[in-house]
Amino acid sequence: MPTLTATATAHPNIAFIKYWGNRDASQRLPQNSSLSFNLDGLLTRTRVSFSPALTSDSLKLNGKTITGPGLARVVNFLQLVRNLAGETIFAAVESTNNFPTGAGIASSAAAFAALALAATSAIGMHLNEKDLSRLARRGSGSACRSVPGGFVEWQAGVEDADSYAASIAPPTYWDLIDCIAVVNASHKPTGSTEGHELADTSPLQTARVVDTPRRLALCRSAVLSKDFSQLAEIVEQDSNLMHAVMLTSQPPLLYWQPATLAVMQAVQGARKRGLPACYTIDAGANVHVLTLASDVNPVRAIVEAVPGVSQIIQAGVGGPAMLQKPSLDG
Ligand code: PMV
Repeated sequence: MPTLTATATAHPNIAFIKYWGNRDASQRLPQNSSLSFNLDGLLTRTRVSFSPALTSDSLKLNGKTITGPGLARVVNFLQLVRNLAGETIFAAVESTNNFPTGAGIASSAAAFAALALAATSAIGMHLNEKDLSRLARRGSGSACRSVPGGFVEWQAGVEDADSYAASIAPPTYWDLIDCIAVVNASHKPTGSTEGHELADTSPLQTARVVDTPRRLALCRSAVLSKDFSQLAEIVEQDSNLMHAVMLTSQPPLLYWQPATLAVMQAVQGARKRGLPACYTIDAGANVHVLTLASDVNPVRAIVEAVPGVSQIIQAGVGGPAMLQKPSLDG
């Protein structure tokens, strides 16, 4: 059997309505539905080569060989792909991110979306978007939202078969920009896999989950009607709710740095002065400042001026996970 190779790319995504807490951790079935957009320009490119000559799976990330828990997570995922395909051969995985590593941008969504597409293609399976999204979910929940393009909603569903993401609008639908304010964090934060497990230790998680359909409906309608001020209110409330759960978990998760709070306040001040800007924060100290393309310069200038912000990474709305042409596989 010859070497079976494929290369795929995917963008990370930023959620307006967050996923936090699983109903079933092993299958990454979430407690609530979520809504996000893909981040254009930020890209993970992953090449997977299955070969009968290999005696184990291997992983290289940005040229560095990965072992330990990072490799184990990819091996578990490749095992799912092998089971689906009825194969037993091992694979070499090589992945690169074009965005700065260590800048605290969650890369697991782009990583598992690209890996799901490259691995299934390399092994000869051609999954439709829904089944690819379901598979990517097993690697990292939010990865299911990096499979379709543009603005994307992940229906929590009740089981594996109906828990997947789909586009609600294409990338060109609305010119939103994410200015990621990179804040220097001195310690490595608790990862999201561990964080999801703590969600139910907060007495606020039930209230957050029960209220999600209301926030999701408001957010969806704000996106579809391009109503920035409605979007801003619901996005900040959703992020604050998730961080309220994190802060009240046992043990508590406090991701913010002083500069995180300073950016939040600067953004709220800018909005009061009439600029379209709102913040949302994932499981880290960086602040995603959302604005419209038409207003990005003044908003960026305000965020850049906040002490403690070391860098701004700017991204528009990105497309779906894509397979690279076989001629470019080298
Ligand atoms: O996909 P995970 O397990 O890395 O979880 C993502 C969690 C958040 O980024 C905090 C929220 C979200 O919906 O992206």
